Amino acid sequence: MTASSKKLFVKTFGCQMNVYDSGRMADALAPAGFVRTETPDDADLIILNTCHIREKAAEKVYSEVGRMRGIKQARRGAGQETLIAVAGCVAQAEGEEIVRRAPVVDLVFGPQAYHRLPALVGRAQRGEAVVDTDFPAEDKFDHLPGASPERIRTAGPTAFLTIQEGCDKFCTFCVVPYTRGAEVSRPAAAIMDEARRLVELGTREITLLGQNVNAWHGAAPGGGEWGLGRLLHALAGIDGLERLRYTTSHPRDMDDELIAAHRDVPQLMPFLHLPVQSGCDRVLALMNRRHRRSDYLRLVDRIRKARPDIALSGDFIVGFPGEDEVDFEDTMELVRDVGYAQAFSFKYSPRPGTPGATMEDQVPDEVRGERLNRLQALLRHQQHNFNEGCVGTRLPVLLERPGRKVGQLVGRSPYLQPVNVDADAALLGEVIEVVIEEAGPNSLFGRLPQVRDEANPVVMESRF
Ligand code: SAH
Ligand code: SF4
Ligand code: F3S
Repeated sequence: MTASSKKLFVKTFGCQMNVYDSGRMADALAPAGFVRTETPDDADLIILNTCHIREKAAEKVYSEVGRMRGIKQARRGAGQETLIAVAGCVAQAEGEEIVRRAPVVDLVFGPQAYHRLPALVGRAQRGEAVVDTDFPAEDKFDHLPGASPERIRTAGPTAFLTIQEGCDKFCTFCVVPYTRGAEVSRPAAAIMDEARRLVELGTREITLLGQNVNAWHGAAPGGGEWGLGRLLHALAGIDGLERLRYTTSHPRDMDDELIAAHRDVPQLMPFLHLPVQSGCDRVLALMNRRHRRSDYLRLVDRIRKARPDIALSGDFIVGFPGEDEVDFEDTMELVRDVGYAQAFSFKYSPRPGTPGATMEDQVPDEVRGERLNRLQALLRHQQHNFNEGCVGTRLPVLLERPGRKVGQLVGRSPYLQPVNVDADAALLGEVIEVVIEEAGPNSLFGRLPQVRDEANPVVMESRF
């Protein structure tokens, strides 16, 4: 095997940060000769980048390892070796337990070890069982290569950029503070450099990532410290960067400067993911969310004043320990009050090591399931109304990739809806106006405007 012929297959589970991390792992391994491939069948190294957030997510890892074992055996039969690695949040949470349960796994390493990958893989190639779940003091971002061949190969109109990692909030249901460690903010200059490089490679839209992205407070280029609002202003100054987004925000960290950025920075898209989890004060306190229902509603009002057409998205957990029917109705009422354009909702899943898992009054699974159905019906209805409200308007769409049908392209509206439109592939990477003609449950369909449309432009106003 020559240095240039090694194939790397990465399968990503979980959140956008894992998507970003998978790219950075490929970056880190590129100098060692690894090239990413789309199938595990001929891979020399298989990395499963895992998620621990709910039980179902964590269990997927073991079924996936089972499948990969088959591939490893088949390749060994043909005289080729395959290394199987488990990375990400399950690796961080379970460590050596993974190798005990699935001895076929050669390497286990957590999210803070990615810059050490070439050395770890080298040790595994020499037959050592490698487990690395340390939280090192040094900042891993300093050690990850920037414009690697992987970056150049995968560059597209939209990109993720992690600016903050970890979480100090310790919501009682959540594993993230344990799997990702304490909150770390990258310095503004490093973020600006990475953003500039992405734009040079053709990126038009950057989504800033963090488990608690709006808690970002990084070193400012000229000394001192910036908050996210200030950073967004600075990024908006990069020529060719047309759109900015950020996710995921905690309601406690939406400061005045950030809210004002939604009014003042045209590149900042009018879409905000602002999880609330529950609409009931007693449950919010049990969850250690550190805000009340009224704080959230007031915040939503202020954000909507700053940017009247903003579309909101949220996360909800139903059936947290102690939640009764009246508490759940509070959540339904909050959803009716706010009106979401999109949302994610989950049955509470007790996670080992979190305070919620050992709380009294765990809610039976059937009750959790039944409440989830009711909440999801309401959220689906709101999303449908929001999408229908776009029909007949013209929206600027960043065209990202070819659609399923020949001659069709898919892009995103400012409100993050996928928009399908018949357009020439030469328009990929451009923001164009699209006349929205039809709405589906999760996406929109439109056409390019014709001259006769110019007489009657319809622009979106507030949706709710
Ligand atoms: N940092 C973000 C959320 C990260 S986890 C925030 O603070 O909002 C993504 C979502 O998964 C959470 O918002 C929550 O709705 C859900 N989630 C987290 N832990 C969960 C658990 N134990 N059971 C069910 N859903 C959970
Ligand atoms: Fe988890 Fe809460 Fe931190 Fe979000 S803020 S990552 S829900 S502990
Ligand atoms: Fe999952 Fe880890 Fe993201 S637990 S949601 S992959 S931070």
